[in-house]
Amino acid sequence: MNSRRHAGQFVCGNVTRIPLTDGIADEVWLMNVLGEDDKPLEPELSQAFGELVRILKPEGKIIIGELYTPARWLLNYDFQKLRLQRQVFAGDGATSFIEEYGITAWITRHFFIPEIKDPFFMTLSR
Ligand SMILES: C[S@@+](CC[C@H](N)C(=O)[O-])C[C@H]1O[C@@H](n2cnc3c(N)ncnc32)[C@H](O)[C@@H]1O
Repeated sequence: MNSRRHAGQFVCGNVTRIPLTDGIADEVWLMNVLGEDDKPLEPELSQAFGELVRILKPEGKIIIGELYTPARWLLNYDFQKLRLQRQVFAGDGATSFIEEYGITAWITRHFFIPEIKDPFFMTLSR
């Protein structure tokens, strides 16, 4: 993280039952979780988004990174029913996102494997 941002805190748990109190998070990062398998089934998927929204501060942001096996279904998912605004950062936008969020060193070390097809980031906010 760059100097403008806090390092954050890693929390271990199931995204369908996040062990944090309501309205505590400025940002929640979910990196390469949703694209690991096929689209997650209901009710787990709704429970996961419900939990992500529950722990978020009103002005908070959910940040999803899909860089290994990108979950394309997220691009068509109806986030309006959760009253969330979606912004997608793909292509050059993904590169700008990495710079803007100060995660260049981490991404370079961890990701950018040439075979990855069309990675993207997505932010969700109220
Ligand atoms: C492809 S790995 C990515 C690991 C790491 N986040 C990264 O970006 O390198 C997918 C991760 O999603 C986690 N995961 C899958 N389902 C989950 C769930 N319901 N709750 C929390 N984590 C989950 C798995 O435990 C695994 O660590």
